[in-house]
Amino acid sequence: MINHSKARAYTNIALIKYWGKRDESLILPMNSSLSMTLDRYFTETEVSVDPILSNDQILIDQNTIDVISHHNLVRFLNLIREMSGNPYFAKVESINRVPTAAGFASSASGYAALALAASSAYGLKLTPKELSILARRGSGSASRSIFGGFVLWHRGQLINGEDSYSESLIDEVYEWPIEVISAVVSTDKKSISSRMGMKQTVETSPLYKGWLESVDSDIMRAIHAIKAKDFTSLGEVVEHNALKMHATMMSAWPSVIYFTSGTLEIINLVQRMRQEGIEAYFTIDAGPNVKILCQKSDTGKVKNALIQLSAVQSVEICSLGKGASLIE
Ligand code: PMV
Repeated sequence: MINHSKARAYTNIALIKYWGKRDESLILPMNSSLSMTLDRYFTETEVSVDPILSNDQILIDQNTIDVISHHNLVRFLNLIREMSGNPYFAKVESINRVPTAAGFASSASGYAALALAASSAYGLKLTPKELSILARRGSGSASRSIFGGFVLWHRGQLINGEDSYSESLIDEVYEWPIEVISAVVSTDKKSISSRMGMKQTVETSPLYKGWLESVDSDIMRAIHAIKAKDFTSLGEVVEHNALKMHATMMSAWPSVIYFTSGTLEIINLVQRMRQEGIEAYFTIDAGPNVKILCQKSDTGKVKNALIQLSAVQSVEICSLGKGASLIE
């Protein structure tokens, strides 16, 4: 008998970043992080466990994938086979509705959707916490995409990673008109993967200790600001946290620099807009594209200013999105 399951999960943007692993193979982070799940970009994945198959068949956006990605996905499915005691291979079909042109990575939504669809197709009944631990084994940020709204990923202390999971702080039905504008300056594949960038930073950056020492208080401040709906306080800590992360990686050797001149132009614009009274704050992941946090009443103004910059190729607007769910 073939067992099917299909799931959808959305991308998330870290407000307080995860940067650095304490265990590369279990994907255990050096620090806790805080994110916002977004409502526009998602991955849908269907898993069919079929006793007839002699190996895993994986299609992403209807295409076969490169050897390394295939190997990583098979390793992830092996984990689920081990947990379920079901040895059969599976057909995996995944569609990413995360356009490269929107400036988001699809690994968070991808592994969150796969964790849910595959665990269900293999007959596992996991709690959201267990699902988040499983998704983390595919990609760290995927552990957060299991939940909607504002999400906290606990670093955890245990060496087996059982206490390194995400949880919902406040779900997506929160009366707070906050939006994220994604401003894309490049759609090229990044030259340094986040895995390599993190490793280089942890091993060589003299500032890494300072980064680690300051993250927990950034998280506390961000949680407090979210609960109090204090946009200024949230924006300030978000922007400062992103700059600290980039400063820390820039001080690694060899240095890890994701900024381009376009990134800097947007940073300057956002800071200038604030001086003119428009409250907007930026955050930047492991790439040159910029996400701008603003209140809905200002989104139009911020968007118009962004598209005036020649470096900006496109802008997309998102708000709070839902957690991963089974569909059909
Ligand atoms: O989970 P990964 O390997 O895609 O790493 C994510 C790293 C950042 O996007 C820079 C920060 C974060 O917390 O999402």
